[in-house]
Amino acid sequence: MPNLKEIIERKKRGEPLTDDEIAYVVRGYVGGEIPDYQVAALLMAIYFRGMDEHETFTLTCEFIKSGVTLELDDIPGLKVDKHSTGGVGDKVSLIVAPWLASMGLVVPMISGRGLGHTGGTLDKLESIPGVRTDFTVEEFKQLLRDHRVAIVGQTDDIVPADRKFYELRDITSTVDSLPLMVASIMSKKLVEDLDVLVLDVKCGTGAFMKTRNAAEQLASLLVKVGQSYGVKTDAVITNMDVPLGRCVGNTLEVKEAIEFMRDGKMEEDLKHVVITIIERVLELAGMELDYWWYLESGAVYEKFVELVAAQGGDTSYVEDTGKLRPANHVVELRAWETGNILSMDTERIGWLANHLGAGRFKKGDKINHAVGFVFWHKTGDIHRGDVIAEIHADDRELAEWVRDELRKAIRIG
Ligand code: URA
Repeated sequence: MPNLKEIIERKKRGEPLTDDEIAYVVRGYVGGEIPDYQVAALLMAIYFRGMDEHETFTLTCEFIKSGVTLELDDIPGLKVDKHSTGGVGDKVSLIVAPWLASMGLVVPMISGRGLGHTGGTLDKLESIPGVRTDFTVEEFKQLLRDHRVAIVGQTDDIVPADRKFYELRDITSTVDSLPLMVASIMSKKLVEDLDVLVLDVKCGTGAFMKTRNAAEQLASLLVKVGQSYGVKTDAVITNMDVPLGRCVGNTLEVKEAIEFMRDGKMEEDLKHVVITIIERVLELAGMELDYWWYLESGAVYEKFVELVAAQGGDTSYVEDTGKLRPANHVVELRAWETGNILSMDTERIGWLANHLGAGRFKKGDKINHAVGFVFWHKTGDIHRGDVIAEIHADDRELAEWVRDELRKAIRIG
């Protein structure tokens, strides 16, 4: 009979865990028999010692088995999805999900909340008053039948193992572990009954994978797991050396995504990632479509409004984003010299967003949707006095502290 003290001890020494031990940990933790503190210790041991490919597959499989696997055969259309490995300012899912659904594809998106220094799609979507992301399996399927798209979170039935491990990893600094990321991401995607999956593997200072080599390793394992389950899976590696798009923070990012879909107002880097993913999904799905037409005709925006309404949201906040509560204070960071923005420590920027209240530092923390950053310059030429970024905060003193810290995260030369 496995026992957690020994399991932690063995992993601490770098030994591979058996299938029975992995099953015991996942089932025991989901069932409430194993406490947070022991799993936290095990996660840290996994973080330092890693897991081999067999352990990673087993962990993913146990996560999948912890809940229900959807059966979507009665819903016409190819089932497709994308998932990001986590970035700063990454609002791509908010745009890609309705876009794919507007083209007739079915998008059963199980998403996540903020993780470590990165933001989460569910937290962003919930900036819109009324939006729900916790649905029963039957409700989730009904949303897909009626609207072809839903963005939902893990529940007691939908990958409950990922729900529990995700929350614990978020606040124990054990996110950037390859096996834990693979199990977390792929378990969510592999219960969705997908035909096609595209993974957006972020690489750079704001990503969990800081180097191209690490990103390629993660991408290749994610794809291998997806393909082994019979899903047409591919990965793209995209840049995360600077925040994606203009905004960081829940409401600010939702506004940016809405402006993208409704007004075609888009930052080049955000547009690039969105288009890369749309093209890759269509390619894997074997479909040739004039995908721009769906954006330009307003179909993508209309699908987003439909999604918000279907998930209980008040669409007047989408139609008039000025109604979304802004932060109490906006403080500017201006360039302190003329030159070039050489680099940004984008992970630090993500942590600073959490300090403002955009993310959690411990389990159960309430997040503040209104706070975050707007970046007016991320790379290239800058003149002394130009506004690099706005800091949106509810507390002025905190905003000023964050501005000083943000300055240290940006190199001008
Ligand atoms: N997204 C997830 O769902 N899980 C991770 O571990 C990282 C990104």
